Amino acid sequence: MTAFKGGVGKTTSAICLSCLFAQSGYKVLLIDYDPNRSASVWGSRGSLPFQVATENTANRLMAKEKFDFIVIDTPARPTSAEIKELVDGCDLLLAITTPAALSISALNIMVQSFPPKTKYHVLLTVVPPSSEPDGEIAFHTLREQGLPVLEQGIQRLKVYEHASAEGKPVYEIKRGGKKAWEDWKELAKLQPIKDLLT
Ligand SMILES: Nc1ncnc2c1ncn2[C@@H]1O[C@H](COP(=O)(O)OP(=O)(O)OP(=O)(O)O)[C@@H](O)[C@H]1O
Ligand SMILES: [Mg+2]
Repeated sequence: MTAFKGGVGKTTSAICLSCLFAQSGYKVLLIDYDPNRSASVWGSRGSLPFQVATENTANRLMAKEKFDFIVIDTPARPTSAEIKELVDGCDLLLAITTPAALSISALNIMVQSFPPKTKYHVLLTVVPPSSEPDGEIAFHTLREQGLPVLEQGIQRLKVYEHASAEGKPVYEIKRGGKKAWEDWKELAKLQPIKDLLT
């Protein structure tokens, strides 16, 4: 879960993806590589269905317990060494962007820094309602640029902020949680995610 730009939804996506794996019955560890510790704070507030560790505590935990999935939340602008480590070690690399032009250009710069032949997918998040054209334009732009964008995006919904404030999975938030979770359930049906879950 990575991006060059800050505030594009990496942590929110990492938490939701971890929830998705946990809901499928897997034991998940989310490693929070961001010095801002947003994922750890989310995890410490309440009741996530998986554990959150930092890069400092993860090794000890992994030596003690076996996990089916390790999800990594990076800070904005990972270094090239961090990118190489990520690329080498993971089964699914998700590059996150919002429909904003600046976010898409940061994404382009980041993917150019990936080692050749890196396998990754782009997750478009904070997608506005269809009454605004920005989401469709962004999907179109990403496809035109030849970027491997997942066809299921994640809608822009207030409920994500409530979920992080309450330290809960988004589907546990009464107002709007179910609607938000539909996107993740649809995402799980796409081949790259489905492959991991089977
Ligand atoms: N789908 C969404 N709809 C609405 N708001 C969202 C969505 N995803 C994330 N947000 C909000 O956008 C803000 C930034 O999200 P998040 O912390 O996940 O981004 P980030 O890329 O991890 O940021 P940073 O670079 O600071 O680590 C948060 O306030 C979050 O609640
Ligand atoms: Mg973050």
